[in-house]
Amino acid sequence: MALFQKKTTEEATVDFERLPKHIAIIMDGNGRWAKKRGLPRTAGHAAGAETFRTIATYCKDIGLDYLTVYAFSTENWKRPAEEVSAIMGLLKKYLLEAISKMEKDRVKMEFFGDLSVLTPELRELIEQTREISRHYKGCQVNICLNYGGRDELLRATRAFAQDCVAGKKDPAALTEEAFEAYLFSKGVPDPDLVIRPSGELRLSNFLLWQSAYAEFYFTDVLWPDFSKEELHRAIAAYQSRNRRYGGV
Ligand code: IPE
Ligand code: IPE
Ligand code: MG
Repeated sequence: MALFQKKTTEEATVDFERLPKHIAIIMDGNGRWAKKRGLPRTAGHAAGAETFRTIATYCKDIGLDYLTVYAFSTENWKRPAEEVSAIMGLLKKYLLEAISKMEKDRVKMEFFGDLSVLTPELRELIEQTREISRHYKGCQVNICLNYGGRDELLRATRAFAQDCVAGKKDPAALTEEAFEAYLFSKGVPDPDLVIRPSGELRLSNFLLWQSAYAEFYFTDVLWPDFSKEELHRAIAAYQSRNRRYGGV
């Protein structure tokens, strides 16, 4: 199976007994999806939010353990103020709906990123969402908001250095496991499969530490068009790979 998947209607066969434990998705292509339809970019973000809902629910239904999605990067503040505020508005709408449906959906939600710059209202909704889902078991969905892989690594390094200065940690004793405890993704296993729709072949600062040994799947399907069938294709491609982790 090719690394880059051209749009296709070919059916993929997934072995649901051998699912990856953790799938991460860069939800890209909303703007181009809207442009193709002569709609404002914000309409693409609204459509993308619906796709996220569908895919997250499906991941829970098939028994995936972890889904991590890139929703807003540390670089996305460069966009026009109206687009940023439309995205934040959609996020608020999404969280309000999620909170009201959580009892039914029982999806456990977490958030990775520097949330301190979000509005107090959004932060409060995020806290509520976290609190309600804390008791849920099953699929954990991590939403990356104002997330950047480099920012995450800098924060972790800073916090570790502070602990060393405070005499709580010893630099010589630092291990990968100990370092991971400083990351937003603390306690979450590394993604097995990273999916990027929209045709771009880059990571854009997503999960730099965590994806060291991930399998990558790129497709030119735009995120709002991403479907369960697309997910099947990505998982089938993943299942056809031979993960060696440096061995033979
Ligand atoms: C992804 O879609 C959403 C965010 C980055 C917030 P884009 O808005 O990047 O869509 P394209 O890449 O312009 O098509
Ligand atoms: C990556 O998409 C970030 C998210 C999907 C949230 P971008 O559209 O921001 O990435 P670039 O600019 O194409 O690298
Ligand atoms: Mg983009």
